[in-house]
Amino acid sequence: NKYTLGMIGLGTMGRNLLLNMADNGFQVTGYDKDPKMLKKLEEDGKAHNLKGFESLEEFIQSLELPRRIMLLVPAGKIVDSVIAELIPLLGKGDMIIDSGNSHFTDTSRRAIELSEKGIHFFGMGISGGEEGARFGPSMMPGGDKAAYNAVKPILEAVSAKVNGDPCVAYIGPGASGHFVKMVHNGIEYSMMQVLAETYDILKNGLGYNNDQIYSLFEKWNNGRLKSFLLEVTRDIFKVKDEKTGNFLLDMIKDQAKSKGTGKWTSQVSMDLQLPIPTINESVSARDLSKFKSLRVALSKALPHQSVAIKDTAEFEAHLEQALYFAMITSYAQGLHLLEQASVEFKYELNLKEISQIWRGGCIIRAELLEDIYQAYKKQPQLPHLYTDESIQHQLKEIIPGTRNIVITAIANGIAIPCYASALAYYDALRTDKSPLNLTQAQRDFFGAHTFERIDEEGIFHADWN
Ligand code: 6PG
Repeated sequence: NKYTLGMIGLGTMGRNLLLNMADNGFQVTGYDKDPKMLKKLEEDGKAHNLKGFESLEEFIQSLELPRRIMLLVPAGKIVDSVIAELIPLLGKGDMIIDSGNSHFTDTSRRAIELSEKGIHFFGMGISGGEEGARFGPSMMPGGDKAAYNAVKPILEAVSAKVNGDPCVAYIGPGASGHFVKMVHNGIEYSMMQVLAETYDILKNGLGYNNDQIYSLFEKWNNGRLKSFLLEVTRDIFKVKDEKTGNFLLDMIKDQAKSKGTGKWTSQVSMDLQLPIPTINESVSARDLSKFKSLRVALSKALPHQSVAIKDTAEFEAHLEQALYFAMITSYAQGLHLLEQASVEFKYELNLKEISQIWRGGCIIRAELLEDIYQAYKKQPQLPHLYTDESIQHQLKEIIPGTRNIVITAIANGIAIPCYASALAYYDALRTDKSPLNLTQAQRDFFGAHTFERIDEEGIFHADWN
């Protein structure tokens, strides 16, 4: 009896996904170089008699033909070296599914290299962290459709479900799966930074303690802001440090790390000239946080006379509105980028389906995604999320409060790059006459770069002197 699928990489994600598959009745196995990982798989998978292999050859021989092999190894060179080890052991028609956070250009290259050898390859983004992998992630597979169909029943069974719908769908050709997962992470970075800015306003502007912040997030999470990220953020404000008895959050260094997916999203957006300023700011905020000693020095040299913000019920209500606005805008920018990438890279993306599979399992799952899904369901070719009528209705309600938050935070010297950029993005997008005619005039003035006129077709150049 051979196995239906084999997992390479039995770290937390690979192991949990394998356990999830076994729970769903699939005959699966795994391979890892590290015997400790194999032992852990056996321990956790006792109920299903789950076993892995330490020999790659034996692992490959144990799989049913054509072989379904999933990789959950760190993105980058390791993926290439695993594939190189696999190639001599595989036959035509076998398939490799790379489920890590690989860069989409790597996925395109690997798909071409492997198809020349008759091996099916597709890249799949998985979101949901450890819990998601174990009990239901959101999955974004793209590339070789035949290969996808060969694992579709497994993926649908293990994925998260929303109203009975699986949170997995074929995304499109090429590296579209990894591309969509990358943009998912860009949105994730943006929402995380907006929550950090909210924390800053509450802590340093209003003087709230951690218990008060917990209560407020708890209240908000019972309304339209309900989301996985707000939920985990809320829960962080409850956890105590075993070592000191203080809140664990207060013992953590204020310098954020990243593994690159947010940065990649910003890089691509620049290449495609499709602005996602709020996502960009969230990437920059993490990078800026690393300059701790510079920040400490400047906080002494350039102190701000902080004016405490008056804590009123109205301010709290406005902050809830601003957070909701920033969430809408984070999705709007990410989805707009997907729209453009779909044209540019011929990904044939279906934003209705993408927002549908993001409703459950993934890190950016939120109540709001139901509205977004409905917007794309009503109008699959929606040019921008802001153009949906029901979103517009909500925007009109939350913009005045958002302005108050941005103005107040700025007046009090609190850095709110994501909030401020989201509002500026909104204002720039709803401006019929931008001031960029001046930019064109300047370019033509000093560099004869020419301009177009509002009253006549053609390309013009003026003698500005
Ligand atoms: C997910 C997450 C997951 C991870 C990323 C981002 O969807 O499950 O996005 O992929 O959190 O690796 O991590 P960094 O913050 O380290 O870039």
